[in-house]
Amino acid sequence: MTTAPALLQVRDLQIEFTDRGRVTNRPVRGVQLEIGSREVLGVVGETGCGKSITANAILGTLPEQARATGRIEFAGVEQLSLPERERAVNRGDAISIVFQNPGTAFNPVFRLGNQMRMVLRRHRGLRGRAATAIIAERLSDVGLTDTQRVMNAYPHELSGGMLQRVMIAMALLCEPRLLILDEPTTALDVTVARQILLLILRLQHALGFSVLLITHDLGVVKATCDRVAVLYAGRVVETGPADAVLKTPKHPYTQGLVGALPGQSGGRLRSIEGQVPANFLGIQGCAFADRCYAAIDTCRQVDPDLRPVSTTHEVACIRGGEL
Ligand SMILES: Nc1ncnc2c1ncn2[C@@H]1O[C@H](COP(=O)(O)OP(=O)(O)OP(=O)(O)O)[C@@H](O)[C@H]1O
Ligand SMILES: [Mg+2]
Repeated sequence: MTTAPALLQVRDLQIEFTDRGRVTNRPVRGVQLEIGSREVLGVVGETGCGKSITANAILGTLPEQARATGRIEFAGVEQLSLPERERAVNRGDAISIVFQNPGTAFNPVFRLGNQMRMVLRRHRGLRGRAATAIIAERLSDVGLTDTQRVMNAYPHELSGGMLQRVMIAMALLCEPRLLILDEPTTALDVTVARQILLLILRLQHALGFSVLLITHDLGVVKATCDRVAVLYAGRVVETGPADAVLKTPKHPYTQGLVGALPGQSGGRLRSIEGQVPANFLGIQGCAFADRCYAAIDTCRQVDPDLRPVSTTHEVACIRGGEL
């Protein structure tokens, strides 16, 4: 076990949306996350569970109506209390992000090379040949060998898979310590998606950054992540080493997600009926109780915190130890 402090530590993160002083939604309700140096953490959960908005809070790109409280420590520095100017320095630099849809992440009217140059100029003060050399190196790192053609291209001139490679190259330009990937392969076909994930892992090994990988797909977690955090209705309901959580999921929600993986035996695991609540404001007790095969009366009154089931594996379920 390493005793090194985590690169990223999120403690009791709460996010509220307000409209004219009234709280209209609370999509994140006490999230705890930790990512070590050179570690790949998967964040999974159904649509609307709060994955992207948590990533936005880490980057400091929440919409204006949203307010985050709690602690987000990056490299030992609490982020939520920093002025926006200082947070902006980190974005695209020490922390960068790759989004699901490369088509909307680039500006359609600038050549890709120019968009990459802007990043290096803003964060590193580099221009001209020095900038071009770094861009060419990153493009070839992501498997794009005709670097001149890619730099001269407009976003619409490349395929989705190529554009996603360019976005990864752009995210790595300033050698980030943390790369956030928000469903980076959802828009791609299965073969290309696989190639992109393998590429990210290879780069992660070679360059040594940490990864927060957001995905719906536990198959992807199994293939790529060291640890995983399962999010449900704005809370982490289970977290631990990816192999332990996938092999012996303790939370009924995780059990349902694992049960839906192809190749898993049905038996003990059941798939999950019902839906994530549309708004988390009125939730009493455990948010999953209405969908849970194991819920008892107490579950509708008590919202459990994460508790250890082993030295590295935690679950937020009052019955978690016994299921
Ligand atoms: N701009 C916004 N205004 C109001 N509510 C928002 C806004 N953005 C997100 N939310 C709310 O936050 C909750 C979490 O959204 P988020 O986008 O983080 O989900 P997600 O887990 O990333 O889902 P998906 O898998 O579909 O990407 C949702 O219930 C959504 O309604
Ligand atoms: Mg999302």
